[in-house]
Amino acid sequence: MKARFRVFDRPDQVAAAAAESFAATVDAALKNQRNAYVALSGGSTPKLLFELLANEYATKLDWLSVEVFFGDERCVPPDHEDSNYRVAKELLLDRVGIPDSQIHRMPADASDLDDAAKKYAGVLRSKLPRSPNGTPTFDLVWLGMGGDGHTASLFPGTEALDNQRTLVAANAVPQLDTNRMTLTYPAINAARKVQFLVCGADKASRMREVQGELDQAIAPTSHPASRVRPAGILEWVLDSAAAVELS
Ligand code: 6PG
Repeated sequence: MKARFRVFDRPDQVAAAAAESFAATVDAALKNQRNAYVALSGGSTPKLLFELLANEYATKLDWLSVEVFFGDERCVPPDHEDSNYRVAKELLLDRVGIPDSQIHRMPADASDLDDAAKKYAGVLRSKLPRSPNGTPTFDLVWLGMGGDGHTASLFPGTEALDNQRTLVAANAVPQLDTNRMTLTYPAINAARKVQFLVCGADKASRMREVQGELDQAIAPTSHPASRVRPAGILEWVLDSAAAVELS
C-alpha cells in the first residue's frame, strides 16, 4: 500500500484531521463489527488530538463501542508523568466515558517485562478481530516519529526491530538508558489503517529521508518508521514545519 501524505499549516489542523478520520474509522468499524479497536500513540504530539476528541467529539462518537490499546509504554507506574497511559487517561479517556473494561493499559511497570509483554499480546489475541492470516488486527494504529526515526518504542539499533515472532515486546533502549514495551511490526503492520502524526521542524530532515525510503520497493533498513508498511492504509499527517523538506 503506497503511503499517503497530508500536510497542514499548523499542529491543531493536524489534530483536527486525525480526529475527523478517527470518527470515520469508528463509524466504518461499527458497520462491520461490535467495537472499533484503536492503539494510541505516546509522546507530546497526540495531546492536541486527545483534547480535541474530548472537547469536540465526546458526543459525536459512540465511545461505548471504542476499545483502546497502546502502541508503546514507558517502564513507569500508570500515574507517572512520563506514562503514555496517564496522558491519554487525563486528556481523553476520563472525559469520554469509555468503559474501563475497554481500556487496555500496557503493563510496562511490571517487574517481569517479558512476561508482561506476553500477557499484553494475549489481550490483543483475545480482543482484536483477526486478519485473513489470523493476526489480531487494529482498525487504527496511531504513531508518532522521533527525530531519530523511531516510532512507538521501536528505536534504531534495538532488538525489537527484528522481532517478527511476537505482537508485543519488551525492548531495551540503550540510547535512553531505559527499557520500554512496544507493539512490534507484526502487530502494527496487520492494522487496517496506520496514521502517523508528525509535527515540528525538528522532524523535517528525518521526514525527507523516510519519504525516500517509503518510495523504495524493497523494505528499507535504516529508519524504524519507514518499516511500518501496513496491509491496509498508511497515512502520514504532518504540519508544514515537519513537511518542509518533502518532495
Ligand atoms: C513515546 C512515543 C514515541 C513518540 C515519538 C514522537 O512513547 O514517546 O510512542 O514513539 O511518538 O517519540 O514523540 P513527540 O510526539 O513527543 O514528538
